[in-house]
Amino acid sequence: MMLSKEINEYIEAHTTDEIPLLYDLNRETHQKTYYPNMLSGKVQGKFLEMIVAMLQPKRILEIGTFTGYSALAMSQALPEDGFLITVDRNEEIVSFAKGYFNKSENDGKIRLIEGDAREIIPSLDETFDLIFIDADKSQYTEYYELVFPKLRKGGFFLADNVLWGGKAIEDKNPDKETLGIRKFNDHIRDDKRVEQVMLSVRDGLLLIHKIKE
Ligand SMILES: C[S@@+](CC[C@H](N)C(=O)[O-])C[C@H]1O[C@@H](n2cnc3c(N)ncnc32)[C@H](O)[C@@H]1O
Repeated sequence: MMLSKEINEYIEAHTTDEIPLLYDLNRETHQKTYYPNMLSGKVQGKFLEMIVAMLQPKRILEIGTFTGYSALAMSQALPEDGFLITVDRNEEIVSFAKGYFNKSENDGKIRLIEGDAREIIPSLDETFDLIFIDADKSQYTEYYELVFPKLRKGGFFLADNVLWGGKAIEDKNPDKETLGIRKFNDHIRDDKRVEQVMLSVRDGLLLIHKIKE
């Protein structure tokens, strides 16, 4: 999007290759789904994996599984006693993702829940160390406020697509996703319970540190 094709190729070429399972998942997602660019991909996947390797979270929540790429990428760095809960409301996608989770050596660390995150989140009786927000862009602020009490103080959120292909800063005829992303970014900027840094990885990632309850 905002970076040139050449720069993106350079970034990809200087990032560690995906494991074969993730490579196959990436490929099959491109062959069989309508919006394959929803998948995190090689660079963001490796970034997420490294964030997990650095933070060593025991409990991760992901909102928006899609075909399972980011969940699998993060699970690679999860400690043996760690787990990742991932939520998606799309039945077809959930079975696609399950097929890949079953093939992974980290399958036992991943719990996939089918349903609307806005209904599932309140039913989760867990405290998380890391929460990855990557579902419907128009609902980001709602997810954030719902999960906020379930992230431990000192924990981190990561929110994907916060640049939304550049539409976060364009004014012309914003759609509901664009409005949702802008609302979320401003909400986080004004939230005194957190500190945050916006990263220009892929479509923009917002890394949010919870410093107050
Ligand atoms: C951008 S994709 C997730 C990509 C995935 N995290 C990755 O990096 O490969 C967004 C997913 O969120 C799901 N989704 C959208 N709104 C949702 C909601 N309210 N509850 C649960 N899942 C939702 C969609 O079905 C879709 O599969």
